[in-house]
Amino acid sequence: MHLVELELEEFRSYRRLQLHLDPAGLRLVGDNASGKSSLLEAIAMLATTRSVRTSSERELIHWRSGEDLSLPPFSRIRGVVTRGDRTIEIEIAIQIEPGRTSHVKKRIRINGRPVRVLDAVGSLNAVLFSPEDIELISGSPAGRRRYLDSTISQLDRSYLRSLARFSRILEQRNSLLKSLAGSGITAGSRQAGEQLDFWDAELVAHGSAVIARRVLIVKRLGRLAAERFELLSMTADLDVRYESSVSLTPAQVAELVTMDRLQPVVARNFTTALTAARSDELRRGATLVGPHRDDVTFQLAGLDVSMHGSRGQQRLVVVALKLAISALMQEIADESPVLMLDDVLSELDPRHQASLLEATAAAGLQVIVTATEPSLLRRPVLERIPASRVASGSILPLDSL
Ligand SMILES: Nc1ncnc2c1ncn2[C@@H]1O[C@H](COP(=O)(O)OP(=O)(O)OP(=O)(O)O)[C@@H](O)[C@H]1O
Ligand SMILES: [Mg+2]
Repeated sequence: MHLVELELEEFRSYRRLQLHLDPAGLRLVGDNASGKSSLLEAIAMLATTRSVRTSSERELIHWRSGEDLSLPPFSRIRGVVTRGDRTIEIEIAIQIEPGRTSHVKKRIRINGRPVRVLDAVGSLNAVLFSPEDIELISGSPAGRRRYLDSTISQLDRSYLRSLARFSRILEQRNSLLKSLAGSGITAGSRQAGEQLDFWDAELVAHGSAVIARRVLIVKRLGRLAAERFELLSMTADLDVRYESSVSLTPAQVAELVTMDRLQPVVARNFTTALTAARSDELRRGATLVGPHRDDVTFQLAGLDVSMHGSRGQQRLVVVALKLAISALMQEIADESPVLMLDDVLSELDPRHQASLLEATAAAGLQVIVTATEPSLLRRPVLERIPASRVASGSILPLDSL
């Protein structure tokens, strides 16, 4: 699929922008703070409806939006995507509610029709790769879970629904545990049993769907990432694993390859783990097992990359992971995603820059690649991609880089 048009209004440093994109993509050069990352942030938002850079959406609205007319601050992103022989128009508008400066209202339309977030995610598939993504390896499990969730949501709408239900139940179960813990109720009491049994069953029903889907996706991603890592680094030893608080044996992970077969096993393990954790949970007033406690690990030759890998190795693992995600999207959606490389070439040595660019060219993707230094984008493999320069909130085509 291709993004063919992008329109921004009052988004970050862009007051008004209208951009036509070539199916090959765009090579974008610009100084620091010229708006490169903001442009990619807007495109990624069309794919997931959320910003990759902030959870506070009011930051996205241009600081002076609405000022001259005394209107509530407002921002809009509009994209036109071609997907096979279909054209999809995605529009996201955010507005600060009059009189409530802390409240942001978001509206989404697909082909002019208002839709919920759940129905908008996945209209565009995009993979963004930026220097901060090294955090996926070195950062917290919560960041990895968020990223995994956002990736799977683009591929599978029912996943976002399971995840939303699970999160609601988790919240309710946690507040029950907190109040039981506060009144000194222990695991043996009848009161604890009666109230918790219901929530345990709900937690397991929705949590096991989330875990099983994640296990299956990580298994496929792990295989694709290992192949790509081998091409990039000439070594074949990357192992990506889903580590669940609801323990699964390697044999279970290897043998159960469909949701129908895996989910009941996850549910059974989940129930056992909850029973074992009950007295701890009542003491601490929180749910201690479930998808919200799980993690994804990356190992090279059996050693955890987050602890033992060099920065360069961690970066290469992220490159392999991003390429794997884009290959998986292509497999599942039967359409290539839009790949965005934000300022990542400057962080790789020349050999790895070349392998990354060759890998993207071979996959025939629409590639949007940014750099502060034009020479990084002056490459034979990138020649067919039009070049532009961004400065002062506008993007102007360049005849040559
Ligand atoms: N809501 C906003 N309104 C106006 N300007 C904003 C807003 N949010 C961010 N900016 C500004 O937008 C500018 C562009 O930021 P962006 O991160 O897109 O630049 P960049 O080209 O990626 O820079 P770098 O090369 O340093 O990564 C920054 O100067 C930032 O302060
Ligand atoms: Mg940037």
